[in-house]
Amino acid sequence: MSAPSTKPIRKAVFPVAGMGTRFLPATKAIPKEMLPIVDRPLIQYAVEEAYAAGIREMIFVTGRHKRAIEDHFDTAFELEHELEQANKHKMLEMVRSVKPADMQCIFVRQPQALGLGHAICCAEALVGDEFFAVLLADDLMVGAKPILQQMVEVHERTGGSVLATQDVPKAHTFRYGILDVKGNKEQTAQIYGMVEKPDPEEAPSTLAVAGRYILSPSVFGKIRTQPRGAGGEIQLTDGIAALLSEEGVYSHRYDGRRYDCGSKEGYIQATIDMALERDDLKDAAKAHLDKIYNK
Ligand code: G1P
Repeated sequence: MSAPSTKPIRKAVFPVAGMGTRFLPATKAIPKEMLPIVDRPLIQYAVEEAYAAGIREMIFVTGRHKRAIEDHFDTAFELEHELEQANKHKMLEMVRSVKPADMQCIFVRQPQALGLGHAICCAEALVGDEFFAVLLADDLMVGAKPILQQMVEVHERTGGSVLATQDVPKAHTFRYGILDVKGNKEQTAQIYGMVEKPDPEEAPSTLAVAGRYILSPSVFGKIRTQPRGAGGEIQLTDGIAALLSEEGVYSHRYDGRRYDCGSKEGYIQATIDMALERDDLKDAAKAHLDKIYNK
């Protein structure tokens, strides 16, 4: 099969309007996407992953109380001036690298919290008529090759939409979008059915969607015409499910790890693992863990 002609994925949408109630009181005054894993906020990991996949236009769907995200990706004039005066060039470089010069950040509001599908539709006018990426910053994804880059390559091969997927325990299907695929063991397989947060008894499989998507622009029309779904929300999953009979949508079992940083367990695991992977922290982190467990 010859590769279909695809255009590069240029735009990424980050739905960041959620309240983050699971992390109260930490998220009373700061957005959950600004919670740090070691020293970078969650949203920065997601933006860096999109940038590494060649994307330069970052579209944030924000809500009230999310100003810190805009500030994070803006110039910090006073801070940069002070670092410059103090000859702290390395630190200055690190602060400036949060938003590389060739990266554009655009912010649009989601006026009401009506669900993930609704949030994505708030970016429709900015995305226009091209395939685009969606990254859920709660899901911190780590791979030798960045996960979104893996998905871009699947999109180039198939010409279709691509969802990052992983197998989950049967008892956990109610937390995810769950897929019906043929060729269930293949790394990349076409999706024939999709349901949001099914009970284990009703789930078509245990193949779950992680928080990374490459989507056809036709999904906007589909989301708009679907009735409200699980939890009474306008679900992205229902919009994608409506696409399946018309366009190719593919599951890609990504190579790498996912941390559900929307949960406290996942957040703690990510913090420990990321510290253990950092040259400047791994010795101290390991020594501390050894002290606790190998006494
Ligand atoms: C969302 C999606 C779900 C997906 C999950 C991945 O759910 O609706 O289909 O499996 O992200 O993290 P949420 O976690 O926002 O409830």
